[in-house]
Order: sequence, then C-alpha cells, then structure tokens
Amino acid sequence: MKKYLVIGNPIDHSLSPKLHNHWLKENNIDAIYKKKKINDNEIKNVILKVRKNQIQGINVTVPFKKDVIPYLDILSEEASSTKSVNTIYLDKNKVVGHNTDAEGFRLSLQNMENDLKGKKVFILGAGGVVSSIIYSLERMGVSQITLANRTRSKADELKKIFKNLNLIEWGLIPKFDMIINATSLGLNNNDNLGLKFSNSDRGKFFYDIIYNPGETNFLKTGKNLGGQILNGKMMFIYQAYEAFKIWHKVEPKIDENLMKILDT
Ligand code: ATR
Repeated sequence: MKKYLVIGNPIDHSLSPKLHNHWLKENNIDAIYKKKKINDNEIKNVILKVRKNQIQGINVTVPFKKDVIPYLDILSEEASSTKSVNTIYLDKNKVVGHNTDAEGFRLSLQNMENDLKGKKVFILGAGGVVSSIIYSLERMGVSQITLANRTRSKADELKKIFKNLNLIEWGLIPKFDMIINATSLGLNNNDNLGLKFSNSDRGKFFYDIIYNPGETNFLKTGKNLGGQILNGKMMFIYQAYEAFKIWHKVEPKIDENLMKILDT
C-alpha cells in the first residue's frame, strides 16, 4: 500500500487526510494519507523515506515550507520562485519539491481572474503561504501588490524575492481593490485585525486564507462594507487537487459530496 503524509507543527487541525483519503477511496487507489507532527530535526529523516520510496508523497505545511528545501534534489519553477514547497515526491530517483499553493490560489479565483488584471491588491501577513499568493497575483497581471506585516523583517524577506512588492507599516490601509488576510488572526472567532476601514473601502473584494471559521470577522467586515467575500476553502481544496493529480495521475472530483465531507 502506498503511503502519503502531511507534515507540520501543529498538525492536529489539518483537513488534508480527510480530503485525500476521500479521493483515494473514490478512485480505488490502494493508498493511505496520514498526518504527522514533526520537529525541525526530523525533517531530514522523513524526506529520506521518500528517497527510499517508503513514503510516496509528502505535503508540507506551516512552519516547514521553506525548511524542507535543503533536503530536496530538484525544485519546480513555482517552488524555486516562491522558496516554498508544499508537495514532495520521487521522480527518476530524485526527490522533487513543488508548490501547489500558487496554482491553488489561482484556481480559487478562476472565475474572477480576468477581473483582477490591473487591480491593486493589499496583503496582510507574511507567513508561509504569502510568497505563493504574490507569485500567483503577479502572473494574473495585478497592477500593484502592497503588503503589511506586524514583524517588518518578514516582509523585508519577501521584498528580496519580489522586487516590485510595496511594503507599508502594519496598521495602515492603502487604496485597494482586493484585500487578502494571510495572517492567522481570525482562527479564533473573537480575533480582530484592529484595522480601521473607511468609506473608500466599500464594495471591495475581501479574501481570507482562513477557512475555519468559514466567515471570520475580517470577512464579516468586508460583507458589511458591501464587498464580495471569499474564504480559503477553495484554495485549500485546489492545492490538494493539484498534489493529487501529480501523485496519482488522476483528476479528483470537486463536488457537493466533497464539500459535505469537509464540513463534517
Ligand atoms: P509562519 O509565520 O510560521 O509561516 P503563518 O501562520 O503562516 O506562520 O503566519 C502567521 C502570520 O500571521 C504572520 O504574518 C504573523 O505576523 P508576524 O510575522 O508578525 O508573526 C501574523 N500574525 C499572527 N498573529 C498576529 C497578530 N496578533 N497581529 C498581527 N499579525 C499576526
């Protein structure tokens, strides 16, 4: 039986096993997908298992998306441009690191992709998934990406990768068409970003990477301001969809049934 794993810390709340195991069953694939909480010093060993073909694929989540890179043989274009790996597998005896977050983000917006051309985007946060979002937005042809993070040094690191990124102080709000919450503030129902939106922020697109709760205070604010809102569920599903296609060469179904399973 083939084995797949998602590694991270914490990992308890990951829905990846639920999603992948559902697709494995649906496609009659003899495999199992588990989650494993690891520490820094275990990264090397767990990737060695991919090299030995004892594990056929790994998904990587916070905080290891960058830390796994030294142990890989090859990086895909997306992984090397974002310095972020969320999908690992063996190909012709080489351990490959790929990034499906960027494509997951794009696919979550596929109906609106054209509308984002030439638009101003404001990103809150500089955590593990933000380089994938910037990479994707740049390819969609947005006109400007502004970013604010509580810890300035992390924003500075992103600016080294993406030269056109516009950094501003945490707490300020620039003019934007789309605002993305990529901080972990919102995971708790009473979390609040403490930003003061004004009338000029009415009717804009509010996107939260968080999908549980489904409607964060940030999204409630966007809704109250008469804007369009989207949570991170479709991005989560599509990054898994892309990984599944690579590992199993099968296109898994995204349908009502899947949505129901994720909700339970
Ligand atoms: P990681 O940073 O390990 O990749 P993450 O969950 O992807 O983890 O990112 C957490 C993001 O939420 C960071 O941008 C973090 O800001 P810092 O870089 O300053 O830590 C942001 N964040 C978390 N709690 C926050 C808070 N109370 N106020 C503002 N930003 C917060």
